Amino acid sequence: MALARSSELIKNVIYKAEQQDAYSGRVPVYTGEFWTARQRQMHPLHYSVSYRASFKPELPDFFIQRLLSNINGPLVMLDPFGGRGTTILQANLRGHIGYYNDRNPVSGFLARARQHIPDLKQIEERLQQIKLDPTDDSLRTVADDERLLPFFHPGTLNEILQLRRELLQDKNRKDAALQYIGLAALSRLHGHSGGFFSVYSFPQISILPARQALSNQKRNQQPEYRPIRPRIWKKICADLSKPLPARYNSLAAQNAYWQDDARHLKQCPAGVVDLIVTSPPFLDKVNYYDDNWMRSWFLGREGQISKQDLTMTPHLDEWLRFMQSVMQEMGRVLKPGACAVIEVGEVVYRNSVIHLEKELAGMLPLKVTGGHLEASEIFIHTQEFTKLANCWDVSNNSKGTNTNRCLVIRKL
Ligand SMILES: C[S@@+](CC[C@H](N)C(=O)[O-])C[C@H]1O[C@@H](n2cnc3c(N)ncnc32)[C@H](O)[C@@H]1O
Repeated sequence: MALARSSELIKNVIYKAEQQDAYSGRVPVYTGEFWTARQRQMHPLHYSVSYRASFKPELPDFFIQRLLSNINGPLVMLDPFGGRGTTILQANLRGHIGYYNDRNPVSGFLARARQHIPDLKQIEERLQQIKLDPTDDSLRTVADDERLLPFFHPGTLNEILQLRRELLQDKNRKDAALQYIGLAALSRLHGHSGGFFSVYSFPQISILPARQALSNQKRNQQPEYRPIRPRIWKKICADLSKPLPARYNSLAAQNAYWQDDARHLKQCPAGVVDLIVTSPPFLDKVNYYDDNWMRSWFLGREGQISKQDLTMTPHLDEWLRFMQSVMQEMGRVLKPGACAVIEVGEVVYRNSVIHLEKELAGMLPLKVTGGHLEASEIFIHTQEFTKLANCWDVSNNSKGTNTNRCLVIRKL
């Protein structure tokens, strides 16, 4: 099979088509290092905010080049489990349009805040206009203090609350510069270094206040005053240190953003999508609800969804039923002949390692609106384990490797 080797990213690739039938005899399986192991090699806008369980932008880029490079764009790419928006951002950077969906409104904000990127000068001016006064505590409440003072100095918290108020007033997201400032601020809420607003804390997930208080005691630390404006500005300058393609804003203006359950994308018409690249929750390996509590608070989205709205199940059968409905919905929205790439992992389930792509392939072919879905190929991307890639509760980390297991399905 001819593989798209054109990408400058695909260096030192080992393609190994496994002759032995691993997945029902009809699906070629390729194992190798399909994209670079190095971190932060794509446009810095991708790294404007961390997100637990996001995939590297190299992953959608690999499949864009492999599956769309011969077709004239702009084409429509969809991610029904959009997360921080990696797939649609890469689609826009590569000259395509992105349809984004994620049930969690916090994730939706991360993606949407990058729909229109004003120039740096405009953002700087907007940032300067925001009134930030560390001595003004008029927005503080007892409830907020209890939850947030283990993380922030009172002066820092006052500034965060003032920025938050301004952001929440922009209900219709008309102020693109403010939205981007909000994203940069959200990304700085808590972390390890002095670049964050909080005392030393976890960067990717919001730990509970009681745990933070305990950590403060153990580390003998107290939140010191950290002005937020210079930290936000430094982050924005890093994110926008590389120019965006000239068409970025006009393509992204055609994106769509939804907050539906991935089984029912009610605003997406049938047969309109050219390529899906997505990664569903892997059973219950990540708690997208609790891990995002502070972001949810910052964006005023608490209580907008319940924990049950996000799919987290410890049961393989239940997960497979969920994924069957998701694949059916993907089949409905795909154009005939178009593909969906589903990235999953290997997870520890009842004391053994299972390969979720194999479980999914086992459910195909599947009858869908306008045709049927067939397994087309499987890519198992393997590389040396790196710290940032360690998102999953997987056993192979102990061997120093990290894998992305990608099932490609086609609508026929
Ligand atoms: C593995 S993450 C996707 C990460 C994404 N690929 C990225 O690079 O940021 C899975 C996402 O699915 C979302 N999610 C969970 N259950 C969902 C459901 N039933 N429908 C739609 N989205 C859901 C979660 O909020 C989470 O953002």
